[in-house]
Amino acid sequence: MAIKKIFGLVLVIMTLTVLLACCSATVYKVGDSDGWTAKDDKYYSWYERKEFHVGDSLVFEYDRNVNDVTQVSGAWAYEFCNFSSPKAVYNTGHDVVNLTQPGYHYFITSNHDLCASGQKLDILVVRPRPILPLGKVFMVGDSKGWNVYNSDYYYKWSEEKQFYVGDNLFFEYNKDLNDVIEINGTDLEFKSCHPTSRVAVYNTGHDLVKLTKPGIHYFVSLKTGLCEVGLKLRVMVQPLTKTVTFPNVPKKKMKLTPIDRLSRWLRTFRPHH
Ligand SMILES: *[C@@H]1O[C@H](CO)[C@@H](O)[C@H](O)[C@H]1NC(C)=O
Ligand SMILES: *[C@@H]1O[C@H](CO)[C@@H](O)[C@H](O)[C@H]1NC(C)=O
Ligand SMILES: *[C@@H]1O[C@H](CO)[C@@H](O)[C@H](O)[C@H]1NC(C)=O
Repeated sequence: MAIKKIFGLVLVIMTLTVLLACCSATVYKVGDSDGWTAKDDKYYSWYERKEFHVGDSLVFEYDRNVNDVTQVSGAWAYEFCNFSSPKAVYNTGHDVVNLTQPGYHYFITSNHDLCASGQKLDILVVRPRPILPLGKVFMVGDSKGWNVYNSDYYYKWSEEKQFYVGDNLFFEYNKDLNDVIEINGTDLEFKSCHPTSRVAVYNTGHDLVKLTKPGIHYFVSLKTGLCEVGLKLRVMVQPLTKTVTFPNVPKKKMKLTPIDRLSRWLRTFRPHH
């Protein structure tokens, strides 16, 4: 029975971790409301304001009767609108291109006139977006949960740990007997179990409480006077100072061929609006 309960809890925590860990890919509509169309310098000014990351995607919207999206592999083909050996061709009129590799990506149209009049896009894709540190989930009271009538027990439990903004407390208890009230007050009110103000009330029996602010947080049980017998918790939450981490992907060296460099240099002479 107890094993089953712990197993269930581990599942809950794993699910929460996955939910909290979700990613932040961006979908870009090429050319914004104009879509994928010929307009001199349009794409130059469109991409200039953006940073593309592995995991992001591009959406190309266009009239498929006159146009397509042809991905070419180098700056030479890009500069001269040479679509004779494309890397990929998209032609649905609404194409989603996933950026799965870092490096330069070149897109033109196989409609030569449109390409020559500026319908082309080259972008630099960099490493994946950083993922913010995930908060930990602390099971309050460990395997005993929020059921121990001894304030020393929660005092020790809390003293041994370091809590940061973003971390979570998981309270597990019998909801017929017990509840979780976060109180806003002084140490004295916490000690005497007579709070003057409440910040939040939880009463499901399985409550996840996110620590969103640094400082001292007080939690007590008030439902049946269990605070007086020791069901109370004080946690000191530290501000978030941990550095942002990057997911561990193999770093690929981005090599520029001489023609890539020339093309990039030439581009600096384009007019800016
Ligand atoms: C286009 O590229 C192909 C192969 O990459 C090459 O054989 C051909 O000569 C190129 N055409 C022009 C006009 O540059
Ligand atoms: C691009 O990614 C989306 C969502 O991640 C996926 O549904 C779609 O099949 C992918 N497209 C291609 C061409 O791989
Ligand atoms: C907590 O109390 C302080 C002053 O005692 C007050 O400024 C603050 O708004 C209170 N916060 C909540 C959530 O009640």
